[in-house]
Amino acid sequence: MSNTPFSLYGKLVLVTGASSGIGRECAVKCSRSGARVILLGRDETRLNETMGLMEQPHIHGMYSVDLAAYESVSEVIKGIVSKYGRIDGVINCAGISATLPVNAVSPGKMEEFFRTNVIGVINLTKHAIKQAHFSENGGSIVFISSVMGVVGESGKTLYSMTKGALISAVKSMAIELAPRNIRVNAISPGVVETPMSKNAVYSKDEDSLNRVRSLHPLGLGKPEDVANVCLFLLSDEARWITGTNLVVDGGYLAR
Ligand SMILES: NC(=O)c1ccc[n+]([C@@H]2O[C@H](COP(=O)([O-])OP(=O)(O)OC[C@H]3O[C@@H](n4cnc5c(N)ncnc54)[C@H](OP(=O)(O)O)[C@@H]3O)[C@@H](O)[C@H]2O)c1
Repeated sequence: MSNTPFSLYGKLVLVTGASSGIGRECAVKCSRSGARVILLGRDETRLNETMGLMEQPHIHGMYSVDLAAYESVSEVIKGIVSKYGRIDGVINCAGISATLPVNAVSPGKMEEFFRTNVIGVINLTKHAIKQAHFSENGGSIVFISSVMGVVGESGKTLYSMTKGALISAVKSMAIELAPRNIRVNAISPGVVETPMSKNAVYSKDEDSLNRVRSLHPLGLGKPEDVANVCLFLLSDEARWITGTNLVVDGGYLAR
């Protein structure tokens, strides 16, 4: 185990979006902090790549699941609990992004984005926190939202409304689950260098990318910048933090 101030030793942690970017980094860092990690994502090849980066890969689990296939999620969670025991933490990283002018935001597009970024995410969490599934000692749930859930940007209506929904949902879940000592928080990153941001329209030309860079006084983020905060929120050191949205954005929202 490498040196980390936040021990997750003995905890079972689910990470969605573990096949790429921020989720991959969260999974790897959780394994280095002593957690047993269950990797969730759709792409089995990339999940296997993540597994190859983990500390003690033989102790962790991996499930290929589409969060938008709501019914199958319930079976996956039951399978995880019966094989690995009760859940102590969830990092909800899975998500999709797009830049679209509002006049191109069709009902179908809205449904597609809500299905993955909100309904799929909350549905997985709902199954994970069932009395029979979650640790009786409580634990921690983290949702990766975005600065776009807090402020606006041209072309971000679709993405922003899903990320804002998560920030709102976190507050009520935190209150409801506090009696069970389950903490619920959001993290709102600025632009982080991952496949998602590399495929974004602003990465297609140097001028746009420089404009986005200039909005982040500390430069663009790396996946580990977000993963480190996830580890803190999952750890017992964050035991008095719930219902909040931790902004991790290199200063994007400071202006
Ligand atoms: N990168 C940024 O600049 C940035 C900034 C703020 C917030 N965020 C948020 O951070 C989270 C991670 O983003 P990232 O940059 O790491 O993106 P990424 O590299 O594109 O990874 C997205 C992950 O989500 C998973 N996913 C998407 N749809 C899914 C579905 N229906 N079912 C299961 N898994 C699904 C993907 O899995 P498969 O490919 O295996 O399906 C992949 O592992 C997202 O919620 C994103 O909105 C990112």
